[in-house]
Amino acid sequence: MEAVRVGIIGVGNISGIYIECLQAFAGVDLIACADIDQDRARGVAAEKSIPKALSVEELLKDSDVELVLNLTIPAAHGPVALQALENGKHVYNEKPLAVSLADAQALVASAAEKGLRVGCAPDTFLGSGQQTARRAIDDGLIGTPIGAQAAFLAHGPEDWHPNPDFFYQNGGGPMLDMGPYYVTALTNLLGPVKRVSGSARASQTTRKVSLKNERYYARADRSGFAETGYEIPVETPTHYVGVLDFESGAIGDLCTSFDIWHHRNDWAHPITIYGTEGTLLVPDPNNFGGEVKLKRHDDEDWRTLENVHTFNENSRGLGVMDMAIGIRTGAKHRASGELALHALEVMLGVRTASEESRYVTPTTQPERPAALGVDEYSDPRPPKVD
Ligand SMILES: NC(=O)c1ccc[n+]([C@@H]2O[C@H](COP(=O)([O-])OP(=O)(O)OC[C@H]3O[C@@H](n4cnc5c(N)ncnc54)[C@H](O)[C@@H]3O)[C@@H](O)[C@H]2O)c1
Repeated sequence: MEAVRVGIIGVGNISGIYIECLQAFAGVDLIACADIDQDRARGVAAEKSIPKALSVEELLKDSDVELVLNLTIPAAHGPVALQALENGKHVYNEKPLAVSLADAQALVASAAEKGLRVGCAPDTFLGSGQQTARRAIDDGLIGTPIGAQAAFLAHGPEDWHPNPDFFYQNGGGPMLDMGPYYVTALTNLLGPVKRVSGSARASQTTRKVSLKNERYYARADRSGFAETGYEIPVETPTHYVGVLDFESGAIGDLCTSFDIWHHRNDWAHPITIYGTEGTLLVPDPNNFGGEVKLKRHDDEDWRTLENVHTFNENSRGLGVMDMAIGIRTGAKHRASGELALHALEVMLGVRTASEESRYVTPTTQPERPAALGVDEYSDPRPPKVD
């Protein structure tokens, strides 16, 4: 099968792991990269042996590029992806699919009209941890799911991220930044959400970038703030609590926060699924691996389930590979635009419910993506040794 030729737009912080994976995985051939910062694109291309460093415009027009991997900041996801489609290319976005529902809907509609594909992160739900949990539920190990509890509780990324401003702009915040992992994992496990309610608040009007954030203050445009610290204006809620009613009848609660210094949440298992026959502890949906724990009603102790396949390490790009293979074979890809549009409806729904004191009903009800077969793909990279 001929590999699908991929060009990346946006080669910032997260691009490194995508490049590592795409250069290792079958079915994809990374041929070009671009960034509004052209020096950055040239530097990454030289360092990672990517054949072409192009301007954004050149990459969009390059007839060799079949699939654009859009790793820009959230506010650019919608506009860049739409341009990719308009230039006849399939597109796979980092999450969220777009920052407004209208932009996300336009993307999915435009792709359908043009016979092109839209994919979107996260693809962590294809990793061994989440797929093991999926299999446990599908095999009935906890009976019928009743409810879910999920929480991402943290202080914001201004202490470590080299470009943290976007986390506090429209399209950022903990729900649109981290919620995609949780809502996508819950949809993969329990099916789509039929009704959303909740509350959201911003706890501060500005966020100070810690002086410990050396990568931030190393940036030429920030060195003037290196003594006093830089304040980012906050344009988004930073603490959300949502209630998700699933079509299946299960009820979930999801808290996402950038306002919390300390908590007693179990980072190794931030999602719990309750069923009529027992309880499942689900690993971090921001990771590919992790252990799944099961305790049935008559068990004395928790037991660890054996992981079902080999993608245990950071495998960002697995969803791109799955989409590329789908492009060649006609199979449905799993990290789809429809799934990401649903996640966006649910996440934005929590804020709307809070602001308008009402329930929000998502318009989309995507099918659960097919479980990943154990022998379908395997990680070609050698296992990491500690
Ligand atoms: N950093 C992480 O740990 C992480 C993890 C998972 C997902 N993500 C997601 O990946 C995306 C990128 O995150 P990041 O941390 O790499 O951010 P970043 O700011 O480090 O990198 C973004 C890059 O996109 C470029 N860019 C911005 N707008 C552009 C445009 N209109 N056209 C072309 N290039 C443009 C920037 O110059 C920059 O190089 C975000 O959506 C983020 O939510 C990040």
